[in-house]
Amino acid sequence: MTAPLALLTDVAIDQDWRGYTTAEHRVWSTLYDRQAALLGTRACQAFLNGLEVLDLRGGIPDFAAINVRLENLTGWRVIAVPGLIPDADFFDLLARRRFPSARFIRDASALDYLSEPDVFHDVFGHVPMLTDPVFADYMQAYGEGGLRALGLNHLPHLARLYWYTVEFGLVGADSDLRLYGAGAASSAAETVFALESRSPNRLGFDLRRVMRTRYRIDDFQQTYFVIPSLDALLEATLADFRDVYTSLEGAGDIGPEAVLPTDRVLTLGTQTHAAETGGRPPPQ
Ligand code: PHE
Ligand code: CO
Repeated sequence: MTAPLALLTDVAIDQDWRGYTTAEHRVWSTLYDRQAALLGTRACQAFLNGLEVLDLRGGIPDFAAINVRLENLTGWRVIAVPGLIPDADFFDLLARRRFPSARFIRDASALDYLSEPDVFHDVFGHVPMLTDPVFADYMQAYGEGGLRALGLNHLPHLARLYWYTVEFGLVGADSDLRLYGAGAASSAAETVFALESRSPNRLGFDLRRVMRTRYRIDDFQQTYFVIPSLDALLEATLADFRDVYTSLEGAGDIGPEAVLPTDRVLTLGTQTHAAETGGRPPPQ
């Protein structure tokens, strides 16, 4: 087992928590206060519980302190990495219950602009859900599935599952929809848009449907997929994806705005936001 260990030590860097400036800690606190206020009624219970037990207030957290609590709860750890890492390293880390996080934080002059995930997105957005035992298992299974998918030429299909669940997933019923996705939960504007705007579609989660659906990286999502519960998500993804991938070979991609006759529609979006910003979805 020397190779996987070598991989881990290669990709991790030191967070250098003492190296953060007062201004950087202040950016975290500003973002934290804004999101915590919004999420009280908008994030799912697992997220809110995680936020509370991890105690992420008062500046950029020291990963070592987070890990004492997190490892105790679910065996997950956060490690610092130098920005985006190769797919194989990413999957390998998740399969070992290591969540890779950026160490840099966005600039105070552009609180809502991110060219790539920063420590606020990665830690505030993702780590609360890793305190939930079911979601903790889902993320590990995703990493294991990713390692298997590497050789199968189906990474785009698997990446869409990540996007529409881990980054932008909604959970619950029509009368009480909540966020669990990190991309939405770490963005003030998308937190509100995802749940309250009339523009996007909100559709019942279906594994193959999600895997076929292209997504927006340049704007709010045009469609959000809703799971009834975290248990249901884990159960829907237990099957060996080799057969799912095979069944997708003839199936075409679906546009990010599309609603199909087979969809379970919670909200039929107006798509006015997408029309106004005029962004055309990039091919994926
Ligand atoms: N069942 C999936 C597979 O065989 C593993 C997986 C679980 C992938 C959850 C993603 C999310 O590949
Ligand atoms: Co993310």
